[in-house]
Amino acid sequence: MNAPRTQLLIDTDPGVDDALAILMAHAHADVVALTVAAGNVGLEHTVANALKLVELVGATTPVHAGCATPLVLPAADASFVHGRDGFGDIGYAPAAARASSEHAANAMVRLARERPGQLTLVALGPLTNLALALRLEPQLPTLIRRLVVMGGAVSGRGNFERVPTEFNIGFDPEAAHVVFAHWPQFELVDWEACVRHALPFERYDALLAAGGGMARFYGRIAATARAFNAANGRGGMVVADALAMAVALAPDLVRSAQARHVGVELAGSLTRGATVVDWDARCGRAANARIVLEVDQAGFEAMVARGLALPATV
Ligand code: RIB
Ligand code: CA
Repeated sequence: MNAPRTQLLIDTDPGVDDALAILMAHAHADVVALTVAAGNVGLEHTVANALKLVELVGATTPVHAGCATPLVLPAADASFVHGRDGFGDIGYAPAAARASSEHAANAMVRLARERPGQLTLVALGPLTNLALALRLEPQLPTLIRRLVVMGGAVSGRGNFERVPTEFNIGFDPEAAHVVFAHWPQFELVDWEACVRHALPFERYDALLAAGGGMARFYGRIAATARAFNAANGRGGMVVADALAMAVALAPDLVRSAQARHVGVELAGSLTRGATVVDWDARCGRAANARIVLEVDQAGFEAMVARGLALPATV
């Protein structure tokens, strides 16, 4: 008898690597909903991008708009990577469907209560929506089967405007602090692991060439990001959210991980948004994060390929 399909609740700020993760999710699991945050680009664009992806894969996945801003301080977006609209500015025809009127944070709480212990929550953007959901329902961690977070830089090699800071955490450090301080055990796929698991450009291009209609769409929206990766000396296409999604979908792909306490720095002109890891377990705080260090690369790329193989329905 086949194992039941994973039930995914995806919080996301699409963005092109989010898009690849969402394709992988629809190819491998039951996607219960997409809750959308501002981050890579503004909320209007991230919601439109989520709706377009759902339409293209021929799904009926509900899309819930969340917070348009970080909890406390404004932050720069990542349009320099993803394009002004987050999807390479290709000018796609907007999806026919509209987002739900239910706020993302309320949807998270409702779905967790409706499906206690069943949902794998994958956080692919700033944690603003999840922090609000935690404030609405402090018992949320007891209702969610697994929380997988793409975020942070566990050795201080970030990608945001402050050296040790990764974008998802740096965009809304207060939200990340709320989640990290209140979620007893989550899985963390940090930026440094994502860089180690970049898709070499020749393999990335081959995956696109071998794909279906969604691969062609993906190749178009990701052209800006591919050029950015190539221009910035990365060994290949870093698709951070896709790696986090692979870990969520297939935890057996994880080859190495360590459980440690991870905190979030909220102050400091150099350090705000940094993820601070108690690697030597010196400070007496319980490990709240299982930090993924290595993933089976071939297995990861096979899951990417299956996501790209999806036909485009329009
Ligand atoms: O740092 C990488 C993360 O920030 C990814 O989730 C990417 O989509 C951006 O949101
Ligand atoms: Ca993202």
